[in-house]
Amino acid sequence: MEPKETTCRICGGEVREFFDFGRQPLSDSFPSEDELDKEFFFRLRIGMCASCTMVQLLEEVPRDRMFRADYPYYSSGSRRMREHFAATARHLLDTELTGPDPFCVEIGSNDGVMLRVIKDAGVRHLGVEPSGGVAERSRTNGVQVLTAFFEEATAREIADEHGRAQVIYAANTICHIPYLESVFRGVDALLSPDGVFVFEDPYLGDIVERNTFDQIYDEHFYLFTARSVQTAARRFGFDLVDVERLPVHGGEVRYTLARVGGRRPSPRVDDLITTETKCGLGEFATLETFGDRIRQVCKDLVARLRELHDLGFYVVGYGATAKSATVINYAGIGPDLMPCIYDTTPAKVGRYLPGSHIPIRSADELGRPYPDYAVLFAWNHMEEVQAREAEFTAQGGRWILYVPEFRIA
Ligand code: SAH
Ligand code: TMP
Ligand code: ZN
Repeated sequence: MEPKETTCRICGGEVREFFDFGRQPLSDSFPSEDELDKEFFFRLRIGMCASCTMVQLLEEVPRDRMFRADYPYYSSGSRRMREHFAATARHLLDTELTGPDPFCVEIGSNDGVMLRVIKDAGVRHLGVEPSGGVAERSRTNGVQVLTAFFEEATAREIADEHGRAQVIYAANTICHIPYLESVFRGVDALLSPDGVFVFEDPYLGDIVERNTFDQIYDEHFYLFTARSVQTAARRFGFDLVDVERLPVHGGEVRYTLARVGGRRPSPRVDDLITTETKCGLGEFATLETFGDRIRQVCKDLVARLRELHDLGFYVVGYGATAKSATVINYAGIGPDLMPCIYDTTPAKVGRYLPGSHIPIRSADELGRPYPDYAVLFAWNHMEEVQAREAEFTAQGGRWILYVPEFRIA
């Protein structure tokens, strides 16, 4: 029998829906003019497993539709993220990759932003990256990469060819993978006996607290907590041995896992789980209240955009992020209210936002002429964007934020 949509992908328990964003396009698929009538849609519904508390989507988008040769997200596009990954690489080099001839594998290595630092240190490494274009970019930077989805079979092949890894690392990727059981089996096959599996992803605690609901989209299949990760890890023979809160992308947690009994867990793990319990993160009522705030903030955003539009102001968008698909399509914002959106990514410019078909222009053209307002969809890069676009505010332009609530900055 086919598993139901409401069957938890981790434990087989019952997933209870707490929000339905309705029909949504692929968030990282920016159609060109002649692709506008060929878009793929799915239903974006999210719930929490009543047994293991894992927050997950109810519908899975086939992975080949999302992670393709022309996947447009390049991790190196932000200075802050380049710095973050360079610091991460140095940390792994100093703490885990210290023995003789260590080997580091990264799942979802994208354009090689992290692994190039590992490569420069002369350490053996391999990226596993299914999206051909970003993988190719990392190769031109001298990074070793396998164009493949990480899963059990891939991991076994890597182990056969290269031996075991001391570190398996992933950023903003494990939450993209519904088939986690296969990933954990792969990690088991590939990781050295005392190695660590380290991954960082958007944190449900920050998402609920800061109302960053637009972190929910097709690629973000799971929203993790320390508790749900610990429960999942134990099912698959691993233990959560450390957690670290990270400020990037609006708040993430870096989870360190080792084989059960392999390392003594840091007290930080229990501390974070205790905090989560105090905040009611594993309770359905908390997520229903979060859902009420999502409805409210989207209503406010559209009402205020309509008001500004009716008053004759010129309002644009800034940052054609994957996140923007959720808010724009759920709120029903179209080119009438927002005639264009600006972005620095060459692979996005000249194309259209998915679903809403708002045209994407190069950020270099923002000042021709400067708009009155710009809605900041790349709110996680606020400082960097504001510094880059200082002239916009100098000319009297104002930024609009919609998380945690509507605000003109
Ligand atoms: N680590 C980078 C990229 C995150 S985007 C960063 O933090 O900026 C997510 C990446 O995961 C994409 O490049 C996508 O192609 C890749 N990905 C998706 N499923 C994967 C899988 N099963 N195995 C390896 N990579 C995967
Ligand atoms: P992200 O939020 O998924 O990291 O995506 C950020 C998007 O914002 C990406 O498309 C690049 C774009 N961007 C700008 O347009 N200007 C900027 O100054 C920065 C930092 C990012
Ligand atoms: Zn479950």
